[in-house]
Amino acid sequence: MITMEGLVLKLPSPLRIVRRPNPNHPYRVFRSVCLASSAAPAPLSTDPKLGPGSLGHLTRPDFPILHQELNGKKLVYLDNAATSQKPAAVLNALQNYYEAYNSNVHRGIHYLSAKATDEYELARQKVANFINASQCREIVFTRNATEAINLVAYSWGLSNLKKGDEVVLTVAEHHSAIVPWQFVAQRTGAVLKFVSLTEDEIPDVDKLREMLSRQTKLVVVHHVSNVLASVLPIDQIVSWAHDVGAKVLVDACQSVPHMVVDVKGLDADFLVASSHKMCGPTGIGFLYGKYELLSTMPPFLGGGEMISDVYLDHSTYAEPPSRFEAGTPAIGEAIALGASIDYLSGIGMQNIHDYEVELANYLYDSLCSVPNVRVYGPAPSRTVKRAALCSFNVEDAHPTDIATFLDQQHSVAIRSGHHCAQPLHRYLGVNASARASLHFYNTKEDVDDFIQALNDTISFFASFK
Ligand SMILES: Cc1ncc(COP(=O)(O)O)c(C=O)c1O
Repeated sequence: MITMEGLVLKLPSPLRIVRRPNPNHPYRVFRSVCLASSAAPAPLSTDPKLGPGSLGHLTRPDFPILHQELNGKKLVYLDNAATSQKPAAVLNALQNYYEAYNSNVHRGIHYLSAKATDEYELARQKVANFINASQCREIVFTRNATEAINLVAYSWGLSNLKKGDEVVLTVAEHHSAIVPWQFVAQRTGAVLKFVSLTEDEIPDVDKLREMLSRQTKLVVVHHVSNVLASVLPIDQIVSWAHDVGAKVLVDACQSVPHMVVDVKGLDADFLVASSHKMCGPTGIGFLYGKYELLSTMPPFLGGGEMISDVYLDHSTYAEPPSRFEAGTPAIGEAIALGASIDYLSGIGMQNIHDYEVELANYLYDSLCSVPNVRVYGPAPSRTVKRAALCSFNVEDAHPTDIATFLDQQHSVAIRSGHHCAQPLHRYLGVNASARASLHFYNTKEDVDDFIQALNDTISFFASFK
């Protein structure tokens, strides 16, 4: 780690990437040359969409936090896969709730409570419309995507899985989509089966298909990888899973904020996402579930709001979604999530996606032009569209050192670590990576600033060799 005392950087760094050869995939050790740059592919990012009138340039002014300097340098925020920034419209919606009609929902008959209830339920409707759910009763507000997955695990999982049943996942799942199913497997005797990656470092959907059988009761799969930037064909996976009678839970944390997601089109049984990655506030996320499934599921948490009648010895439960929303919910946050959906919809999710594909290609090409950088995940092509993020390593430098130097010397914010995907990092033969992740309010100049800063960072570390 770099430690800074004043301006003095203490080196050498005690942290180093552990490069573990993978017994199943011996080629998956750190590759010290940039594969894409050595292959010199035709640049994919020549589109005028990235010019001065780009979506990034047009929307940046809406995000107050981006207009600041840190240590005398313009902030370049490239940690959007961890959490997105919030436009003024969302901040105002949150403040307006607390200033104008803060009150509890579903219980008061006074004006403020009725207004808060209406706005809270309107936010549910906005989420339903945004992902094309059939009805707003299919949207359960949760604390975040993690809680939404736990809800399915504890409610649906514990009452539907038994010894020998199989849950199919990929090695690239986020911890929040793995650990709850480990709990359930320990309690029920169900078996977790993991799909590996192809040579192109995409979760292997052919293997996934082969793994499905009448034993499979659930497939848990991400839509867009938060490390590999790969995008999975969810509609196909759902159709294969349904053919063997299995349900599918889609972790859409990295897709819902960046592209059109249509749950009816995908035919997903469950889908989860977090508001804070969608330009909304923290503390709120949602579970989409087909109503016929939700209505058969027992409660997850007990308490106020989720009941129909309470007696001293037993209770009856409300219909979904109330059944799964025990206690006072995150009211202002739900309303502000509604405002973020209005904001995103005003831009248009297809516009956001098209712009981000260009930016993603530009980021990938630019990063691959930096010597000794290894980018994980598939190379973009006319058929492979990467999400706008790159996880990477630089030969002989720890990603945390890279991220720290970028932050302290250049005010460029990226992430380093395992990105809550330790099994995936182990599979790739490393214990950590750096990650630059973009959103639609990022610009080509942000990418250029990052690359310039990265080159400077690499030169700095190289000078100690
Ligand atoms: C792919 C993926 N799944 C799940 C999560 C968990 O989201 P949250 O921490 O908001 O519950 C994240 C967050 O980083 C993610 O990227």
